[in-house]
Amino acid sequence: MASILFDEIGLLYTGDQTGGEEIASAALVVEDETVAWVGPAASAPQADRRVDVGGRCVLPGFVDSHAHLVFAGDRTAEFVARMSGEQYRAGGIRTTVAATREAADSVLAARTAALVTEMLAQGTTTVEIKSGYGLTEEDERRSLEIAGAFTEETTFLGAHVVPAGVSTDDYVRQVAGPMLAACAPLARWIDVFCERGAFDGDQTREILSAGIAAGLGARVHAAQFGVGPGVEIACELGAASADHCTHLSDDDVTALATSGVVATLLPGAEFSTRSPYPDARRLLAAGATVALATDCNPGSSYTSSMPFCIALAVREMRMTPLEAVRAATHGGARALRRDDIGVLRPGSRADLAVLDAPSYVHLAYRPGVPLIHQVWRGGRKVA
Ligand code: NIG
Ligand code: FE
Repeated sequence: MASILFDEIGLLYTGDQTGGEEIASAALVVEDETVAWVGPAASAPQADRRVDVGGRCVLPGFVDSHAHLVFAGDRTAEFVARMSGEQYRAGGIRTTVAATREAADSVLAARTAALVTEMLAQGTTTVEIKSGYGLTEEDERRSLEIAGAFTEETTFLGAHVVPAGVSTDDYVRQVAGPMLAACAPLARWIDVFCERGAFDGDQTREILSAGIAAGLGARVHAAQFGVGPGVEIACELGAASADHCTHLSDDDVTALATSGVVATLLPGAEFSTRSPYPDARRLLAAGATVALATDCNPGSSYTSSMPFCIALAVREMRMTPLEAVRAATHGGARALRRDDIGVLRPGSRADLAVLDAPSYVHLAYRPGVPLIHQVWRGGRKVA
């Protein structure tokens, strides 16, 4: 068994709220793919190899629990129009659907690979990838096949929007029936865009229930444009996560806090659609588990950067740097119901981000600066 001692860690953020969440002058030992030991450098055990971290900050690799990476084309013109005052609408998704259906498998796979590589270089060691730009049985299936080459966290999002030329009732029947049957073997999760212009509460319930019956875990795009039924349905069906959570009623906040459904906030979407940010403080005060994710997609949030989302969370949503980093690591892992990532404790997967900075605070304090020095995934240096 090969072991590595990461020594001279200026500040180790373990994310382990049961142990020392932050350890100054720390060390960490990895054995093969797994963390074997964390603690003060002075009492570190021996290992086969030593990596001198040079006083830098080490934290768990980011867990980006919400991303739409399998698509072709872009929506530059839509972005430019929006920055001149146009409103963001769900209908723009159909532009990307048309481009994605036209694209060869090899093109889609190469583009997905490029985004995953971009993410890795920015410290993301786990990413959830959704389908949702195919919207036919065949195109959703191939999106999930491509996604599955990059992550085990694959999500069937046939219910992204109703495609052009199909009636809503027919499409809901198709998604909950044959499309789900074709896609379920390739997915871990099912998601629905529950919003005006996409799917209403009854349709969302029907599609998610069918997915759960097919063995998938549920997650929901909820409350992006206005208060709606998405959060309530997520809590009622035991979804892992309700995502966006930009417009919440008091009942929604209470339901999130008491059900344990993770509230996943996607501030890149508010940034890129010039919309008001979610009220993170209200969720945290109620005791909800908050995750941060990029929502990387060509329409509402074309960023692959978790450090950028952390900076937005701190500046725009008044999360403390510690809360934001916790939400980008442990929070994302909770949103994916994973215990082996998002924390650095003995037994965790050895996914580390080494910052070119003495503290994780710099992720928000030095926005836009590439601070990722090294990335290790499963005990191997990957960036
Ligand atoms: O999470 N809201 C639904 N889906 C994406 C946007 C997709 C698009 O505009 O292409 C989101 O923001
Ligand atoms: Fe999304």
